[in-house]
Amino acid sequence: MSTIAHAIRVRGLEICPPLLQAPMAGLTHSALRQIVSGFGGAGLLSTEMLLASRLPTENPGISPYLVRTAREKPLSYQLLISGDMDVGPAVDKLHDLGADAIDLNMGCPDWSVGRSGAGFALMENPESARRLVMGARRRTDLPLTAKIRLGVGLDEPRLKDFCAMLEGEGIDMVSVHARLKKEPFARRPRWEWVARIKEWLRIPVIANGGIFTVEDAGDCLSVSGADGLMLGRGAVARPWLFADIAREVYGCDIAAPRVSLPLLYGTFTDLIKELFPPERRLGRLKEFTHHFARNYQFGHQLSSRIQGSRTMTQAEERSADFFKNNPECPGEKNT
Ligand SMILES: Cc1cc2nc3c(=O)[nH]c(=O)nc-3n(C[C@H](O)[C@H](O)[C@H](O)COP(=O)(O)O)c2cc1C
Repeated sequence: MSTIAHAIRVRGLEICPPLLQAPMAGLTHSALRQIVSGFGGAGLLSTEMLLASRLPTENPGISPYLVRTAREKPLSYQLLISGDMDVGPAVDKLHDLGADAIDLNMGCPDWSVGRSGAGFALMENPESARRLVMGARRRTDLPLTAKIRLGVGLDEPRLKDFCAMLEGEGIDMVSVHARLKKEPFARRPRWEWVARIKEWLRIPVIANGGIFTVEDAGDCLSVSGADGLMLGRGAVARPWLFADIAREVYGCDIAAPRVSLPLLYGTFTDLIKELFPPERRLGRLKEFTHHFARNYQFGHQLSSRIQGSRTMTQAEERSADFFKNNPECPGEKNT
């Protein structure tokens, strides 16, 4: 199977293989992106969602949201945006930062986000979404993408109109978190609805939600017929999942990684200490550990001990202790 045949091209950006990192607040920062890049297989990396109103004044040298290294490429920046006035300055800043693509968050269902008119609220206010897309499209020639959910309820005409509006206003690619607004992450994603969206649009459609293994990736592709896949939590727990799917589903020439979980955790810890100011480190470690711990049968022990840590030093001692005392979990494993 040729990898090239599966590549997505949007406005000069080649996403190859068509495997995208899902934007995740508190998780998709430089430390995780560097680890994912090291394993390979991700065609497009992502930032956390970035508040458009604050972005223009953020210092990229020290902001935990913006700090990055040259190896994290290509990189999409996701905007959390609601006001038309914010579009110009935010997009200009992303040009300055060397963004490879700009994503508009239209799926975040949190109440605190919605009350400002951002995230999923844009799907509930299509005219507001239209104005934002128009404004951004006028301001940039970069790939402009949108990340959506399926809606409040299963309302096919409404969803179809919304997707058509996005395409009509110049969105280059849509990622679909295949759940309704209030559906929990534990619910089976509705990949079959991605297939419907794919039928309606000419632009690439990316399926997101519930891909934790190579088998999930194959199943999602066969149900959805999507042009590519977006991986969230699964590739936080196993940052080499992109590489595995790239190799086994898309036929890419990427070696099977040899993974040492304690070493990977240590590398992550070192990176957050190197990249983030002291007050940001422990929170980021807790977020990551919550997902990473799923690699262990008794991972809740690691997770709860790190969640209960008050300092980085304490967290590091506790994680070292956990890795030492878990002989039943292989320190090194081939995936
Ligand atoms: C901790 C966390 C933070 C998230 N932050 C964002 C975000 O900043 N922007 C966004 O569009 N979606 C966000 N999401 C949703 C993910 O991008 C993704 O749509 C969701 O996790 C489903 O994919 P998965 O099953 O592969 O994890 C977040 C999800 C989680 C678990």
